[in-house]
Amino acid sequence: MTQDIVILAAGKGSRMKSAFSKVLHKVGGSAMVRRVLTTASALPNAKLHLVVGHQGDQVEASCQDFMANVVWQNDPQGTGDALRRVAPYLQDNGATLTLYGDVPLIRASTLEKMTALSTPNTLVLLTISLDNPTGYGRIVRDEQNKVVAIVEQKDATDSQLAIKEVNTGILLAPNSHLQGWLAALTNNNAQGEYYLTDVIAMAARDGVDIVTVHPENEAEVAGVNDRIQLAALERELQHQQAITLMQNGATLFDPARIDIRGELTTGQDVIIDVNCVFEGNVVLGNGVEIGPNCHLKNCLIGDNTIIKSNTMIDESEVGDACDIGPFARLRPGTVLANNAKIGNFVETKKALIGEGSKVNHLSYIGDTEMGANVNVGAGTITCNYDGVNKHKTQVADNVFIGSNTSLVAPVQVAEGATIAAGSTITKRVGEKQLAFARARQTNKDNWPRPIKK
Ligand code: UD1
Ligand code: CA
Repeated sequence: MTQDIVILAAGKGSRMKSAFSKVLHKVGGSAMVRRVLTTASALPNAKLHLVVGHQGDQVEASCQDFMANVVWQNDPQGTGDALRRVAPYLQDNGATLTLYGDVPLIRASTLEKMTALSTPNTLVLLTISLDNPTGYGRIVRDEQNKVVAIVEQKDATDSQLAIKEVNTGILLAPNSHLQGWLAALTNNNAQGEYYLTDVIAMAARDGVDIVTVHPENEAEVAGVNDRIQLAALERELQHQQAITLMQNGATLFDPARIDIRGELTTGQDVIIDVNCVFEGNVVLGNGVEIGPNCHLKNCLIGDNTIIKSNTMIDESEVGDACDIGPFARLRPGTVLANNAKIGNFVETKKALIGEGSKVNHLSYIGDTEMGANVNVGAGTITCNYDGVNKHKTQVADNVFIGSNTSLVAPVQVAEGATIAAGSTITKRVGEKQLAFARARQTNKDNWPRPIKK
């Protein structure tokens, strides 16, 4: 069945005390509303409608890539009012699923359970029983246990307030009926709003089957109203992701101290120490070990590579059995071949480091192509920038670069060359040549030290 999915995101979110729309605040590194859109897009035959209002320009701009039908609700008058504005765009057949931009952890599997029950004569409600149902709409059932209505907290009688089963807000209604129900909504209630939940009583009246589905966990249907709830959902998501990693065969020294803001894929027997942050798309091969306090963003790490503490890797590709850190910084465009070594206080950028090559201490290697088995001494710097343009350094296989060398680009060092420590290299060094580019040392005999006046 074709499906319209409406995501409500017009609300004010005043308790966030933010200049940004509430639904743009991030959970697990992506805006809440983008999470919901991503989950919704995974459902088959989905046609997305995004209802925006307060700070709607921001929301619209941030979600453009989803190609949703954006519907404006400039003066939000309730969830029913929101659906009414979408009504002209709904398809004739099929059903409409209503989701919320501030309920970010809803799972596709739960929505699939709902859609599996959908028929032209069935309304599917996602409900949950809570020990403390305060604030939620209550699910009212008759003697046969059939749902007959949802009553909002502010409109409920004392006996209705005692009901523990509540409306999560997520519902799936057949379009053939929904159009009529929406048109018939009134705002004759305690909040003076058009309640979407009033369609439940209409469905019961019209003999439409009302069935309920429950989420796997409470977090799936938890909404965010303030930054405290935002932080709680962040922790919940991180916990879930850590569990999944461990189920897939990764060892986490402390599952409470890992943050994945995007997607982390791990091979077998990966070991991750505490306080590591993974952003964007990160893939770790088999047997990768990551020390404490590392930050990895959009990178690919080969099998058996060891990344020691306090290392940052961004937009880079690392081969197998490399040894990186502690305190290394691989900036965008770094590619390490197998068995390469990058040591402490080494920064690389747009640098290809060949197989088995070593840059072990205190270096900057930028805009560089380096061959295999090169040894770069401590403190070596590629001077890649002349103040206007960037230039390239090329170092062939088996080169030995002495400590504290400056390679002034553009420059080439040919195969097997050696550079003396402290050299400033400004022109090509040929194959197997030794380059000396520093002042010669002079020693003076019996040097009289100055005497204090
Ligand atoms: C709603 C439900 C309630 C349910 C609860 C679950 C109704 C009438 N009540 O109540 O049964 O238990 O959610 O959290 O539906 N929004 C718009 N436009 C509007 C109004 C709201 O986009 O005109 C959006 C808000 O931004 C928010 C969501 O819809 O994300 C829910 O609105 P809110 O007013 O918070 O509904 P509740 O009173 O919590
Ligand atoms: Ca309300």
